[in-house]
Amino acid sequence: MERVRRYYDEIADTYDTRVDYYEKALAGDGRQWVCGQATGNTLELGVGTGRNLPYYPAEVRLVGIDLNPAMIEIAKRRAAALGRSVDLRVGDAQSLDLVDATFDSVVATLALSSIPDDRRAIAEAWRVLRPGGRFLILDHVRSPLLPVQAIQRLLDPVSVRLHANHLLRDPVGSLEREGFGIERLERSKLGIIARVSARKPSLSTT
Ligand SMILES: C[S@@+](CC[C@H](N)C(=O)[O-])C[C@H]1O[C@@H](n2cnc3c(N)ncnc32)[C@H](O)[C@@H]1O
Repeated sequence: MERVRRYYDEIADTYDTRVDYYEKALAGDGRQWVCGQATGNTLELGVGTGRNLPYYPAEVRLVGIDLNPAMIEIAKRRAAALGRSVDLRVGDAQSLDLVDATFDSVVATLALSSIPDDRRAIAEAWRVLRPGGRFLILDHVRSPLLPVQAIQRLLDPVSVRLHANHLLRDPVGSLEREGFGIERLERSKLGIIARVSARKPSLSTT
């Protein structure tokens, strides 16, 4: 956790420039795809500098949390520039200070690959989603193609150490283990990029 916080402290001011290039090359219209499906009370995990803010429908009531105060400050400036009212707070996606079953949507873009324990964050998303609510994700993930995965395995330790970023995460498997139903899964770029829409079943008793 401390390493992640320190890393984003160092790069907060340059994050937008860095991610611009990555986004154009790999993510395409992923932010629009994810945010366009958000409805009602929406929670964004690891909101960062608020790059998704322009893509949410106007009627969405958004709470955004991030571990890093410097990232949250930039997100607040972005929200003000957009004239968008958003509840932006410092918080830990692995242990949310939020009431059970209060959100219609949870969003995470490029966040589950950075959160130290992504399984705990997924369990927390389940807890705060109302039955029938959706978890919407855009991220780089472990490729199902074995030669690509072999390269990811080689690069992962360096990526984790230098960028606090995990290359071998499998959010789809983790979502299914948590009980989510996968409604839409779109993979691209040799299986490295995934867009996921997953639903907490309506009849869930938790
Ligand atoms: C790669 S950035 C993505 C930011 C933003 N979601 C985007 O799409 O540009 C990862 C973000 O996750 C945040 N993060 C990492 N671990 C976290 C945690 N446990 N709880 C909340 N945010 C976390 C980092 O501070 C950082 O802002």
